[in-house]
Amino acid sequence: MNISIITIDGPTASGKGTVARIVAEKLHFHYLDSGALYRLTALSVIRSGINPDDTGQIAEMARNLPCRFEKEHIFLGDEDVTDAIRSETIGNMASKIAAIPAVRQALTDLQTGFRKAPGLVADGRDMGTVIFPEADLKIFLTASVDIRAERRYKQLLEKGIPANIDNLRNDLIERDKRDTQRQTAPLVAAPDAITLDTSTLNIQETVERVLDLFARTIRSRS
Ligand code: C5P
Repeated sequence: MNISIITIDGPTASGKGTVARIVAEKLHFHYLDSGALYRLTALSVIRSGINPDDTGQIAEMARNLPCRFEKEHIFLGDEDVTDAIRSETIGNMASKIAAIPAVRQALTDLQTGFRKAPGLVADGRDMGTVIFPEADLKIFLTASVDIRAERRYKQLLEKGIPANIDNLRNDLIERDKRDTQRQTAPLVAAPDAITLDTSTLNIQETVERVLDLFARTIRSRS
């Protein structure tokens, strides 16, 4: 059976997580939040107190991540860590350990395992370039750094998490730099990806564009 794959890559706070989740829901596809795997590894590293420079041990931890995804909830062992992995501290640590090639390798099988019928929407940084190069539709979502900082700021306030917009902006710039400049699987649009700038599009408009592009892809095949 043909399993359709849509990849949505892009920088931090470009809206790809929200868009990917809604597109998956609308199409009744599975959803992979690949960033959550790096965040879960980061949380495990911080909690275990292992040396953040011990790349071998971190990769070992990633290889044996006791994680579970249940609807909107993410578990590490028996603990619901859905909110705990969203903090900026975990995000920054995730971006550091994501630069370790052995960690990326360790998380590869876990990610490709999400490829199940009838289809998958996968969001991250290297979904279209490395993990699912065979994807039917590849989207690269961008937005200006100011817009992304503002969106992240609002998101955190809505969750009751205090935030400073200037610090957020600086963190975003630093994280983008680390993600785009790393040697292994850097953040880059796949040559066959379609770039959507969401600076002037809201979530609903972006979702509609992605669904429309997917419908055209399917039509052009038949
Ligand atoms: O997407 P999210 O912000 O949750 O990802 C957290 C970090 O994990 C990113 O800053 C990035 O460094 C890393 N990541 C990655 N490759 C992916 C997904 C996330 O390197 N496919």
